[in-house]
Amino acid sequence: MHALRNILKPTPIARLQMPGIELYAKLEYFNPVGSLKDRTAYWIMRRAAERGDLRSDSTIIESSSGNFASAVATLSQLAGLEFIPVIDPNIAGIYESFLRRACRRVVKVEERDDTGGFLKTRLKRVAELCREIPNSYWTDQYGNEDGMRAHYELTGGEIVEAMEELTHVFIGVSTAGTISGLSRRLKERWPAIKIIAVDAVGSVIFGGQPRKRHIPGIGASVAPALLQHAIIDDVVMVREKETAEACQELLERHGVFAGGSSGTCYAAIKKYSERMQAHRSAKALFLCADRGTAYLDTLYDRKWVERLE
Ligand SMILES: Cc1ncc(COP(=O)(O)O)c(C=O)c1O
Repeated sequence: MHALRNILKPTPIARLQMPGIELYAKLEYFNPVGSLKDRTAYWIMRRAAERGDLRSDSTIIESSSGNFASAVATLSQLAGLEFIPVIDPNIAGIYESFLRRACRRVVKVEERDDTGGFLKTRLKRVAELCREIPNSYWTDQYGNEDGMRAHYELTGGEIVEAMEELTHVFIGVSTAGTISGLSRRLKERWPAIKIIAVDAVGSVIFGGQPRKRHIPGIGASVAPALLQHAIIDDVVMVREKETAEACQELLERHGVFAGGSSGTCYAAIKKYSERMQAHRSAKALFLCADRGTAYLDTLYDRKWVERLE
């Protein structure tokens, strides 16, 4: 296989003004395809190539409706590989357009599963494609431990290099790859750091009641396997309306135009700020995992937000 080109550079860390806390945002939307999933895709594909699981005649298959698929599509093009994303009708228009221009074949499932969603149908289609297509390789972002190692090595490596000290870090959870890798790296460097997992009300990751959610990139309807590797001190749950208000505040007060999981973390920091201020000199960091563009018709649309609980 042609060498998989590393297109990743360290992302900037911005200082945001917040009373009583030194607050930092690591701007992951500066990654080349636009999100922290560029790191996950790069590390999974690179390690698979090194092991010989991914070869020049491989076809990558993955079920994803957003950032991860966009990253895999771009890296596949660079490496001259075929990639077939399996998507569903809930995909945001700009992601579908992006994938259709980057991939020769896009498979869109239309049938709902027994939960009323599309995830099980998508995964079934992935399994069928893997059986039908010779030399297929499933990146398996929900179960692949290289997804977590990406954040131990890359995101975590950059944070420990750039920061003198941190007392708190707030991390949004979906596949749990980010929190598993980062929590391990940051605890190694600063054993007393508090790792605060951030999740959406309606997600079941931390045992809550399932409820229909509208914001991609945060939460899950099943507990992800990678979570067992995470070291977590506390969990903050955020309602979707709070996420939307926090995204708008990030833009209007700090000039940061970020996506749903970033707003969810910022909302969690505000909820947690009293507890942090009790700490002599709190230094907190969160990730702005992607940009706000894909959320203009939702989180940034006041009419859409009014309908949320
Ligand atoms: C925008 C965004 N933020 C955060 C996450 C959560 O990261 P992880 O899947 O590593 O838990 C995702 C995952 O898809 C995401 O797309």
